[in-house]
Amino acid sequence: MQRIDGAAVAAKVMDETKVRIAALAARGIRPGLAVVLVGDDPASRAYVRSKDRKAAELGLHSVKHELPADTTQAVLIALVAELNADPAVHGILVQSPPPPQINEAEVVLAIDPRKDVDGFHPVNVAKLAMEDPTGFVPCTPLGCIRLLQETGLETAGKSAVVVGRSMIVGKPMALLLMKRGPGGDATVTVAHSRTQNLAEVTRRADIVIAAIGRPHFLGAEHIREGAVVIDVGINRMEDPQHPKGYRLVGDVDYDAVAAKCAAITPVPGGVGPMTIAMLMSNCVTAAERLNS
Ligand code: GUN
Repeated sequence: MQRIDGAAVAAKVMDETKVRIAALAARGIRPGLAVVLVGDDPASRAYVRSKDRKAAELGLHSVKHELPADTTQAVLIALVAELNADPAVHGILVQSPPPPQINEAEVVLAIDPRKDVDGFHPVNVAKLAMEDPTGFVPCTPLGCIRLLQETGLETAGKSAVVVGRSMIVGKPMALLLMKRGPGGDATVTVAHSRTQNLAEVTRRADIVIAAIGRPHFLGAEHIREGAVVIDVGINRMEDPQHPKGYRLVGDVDYDAVAAKCAAITPVPGGVGPMTIAMLMSNCVTAAERLNS
C-alpha cells in the first residue's frame, strides 16, 4: 500500500509556481489574489486564512475581504465588480458556501471569467466540458489529477468511480477523468446519494474518488483489493482527546480501507494541500494570461 503524500506533491507544484512568479516579477508583474468570505463559518474561515497565508508566502499581492454574515447580494456583487476592475487583482475567489440570502450562482456569474481561478463561472465550466484548455479548472479536482499523475498512477482505460456530484468537485472531477490525454481517458461513473447498491458500484472501480462530504462514509466493503483511493473529504469529527475538540477525517475510513489499497491519500495531508497549491497556480496562470 502506498500512502500518497499530498504535501510533497503540493511542495513541488509550489516550486514550479515560484519559478513562474519570478518570471512575471522580471516583467514587473505581481500576481494578485482576492479572497472573499461572507459570514463566519469556522471551516470556511480556516480555509480562507490558509489561502491568504499561502498567497502571502509566495509573495503574491493578497487581499482578503471578510464581510458580515448579513451582507446583501447587492453589496457582494458590487465588491466583485470592484475586484473585476482592479488591475492589481488577477484572481478572485468567493468562498463557498455563502449564507442563505446570497444567490451564489449570480455571484459566480458576476466574476470576470478571466479572473475566475475557482473555475466556477459557466464559461469555464463549458470550456472544461469542451476540453478547451484556455479556461480555469476547479482547484480540488485539478489537484486530484495531479496527485495521480505525480504518483505514477495510470488513469487511461481504468474504471474510475466518482462519489459525489457537486459543482466544486464531483462534476469537474468526472470531466477531467474522461478528458482525452494524460490524467484522463478513464471510464467514468458518477455515483451519488441516490445511487442504489453503492458498494457494488464502487467495488468495480480501479480508482475511487470520494467527494461526498460525510465522515468515514466509505468503508472496506466499498473498495476492491488493489484499488486507488483519493479522499477529498475534510470533515470535522468530535474528539475530546484532541486539543481542538475535533479532528479532521476523510470521507473514507482510512484505517479500514488502507491495507486493501494499491494507493490511498490520507486526511489531512492528501488532497487538502493540493487544493491550495492549484489555486496559487491558477492565480499565476490568470496573471500570465491577463498580461500576454
Ligand atoms: N469551498 C470549498 N472548496 C472551495 C473552493 O475550492 N473554492 C471556493 N470558492 N469555495 C470552496
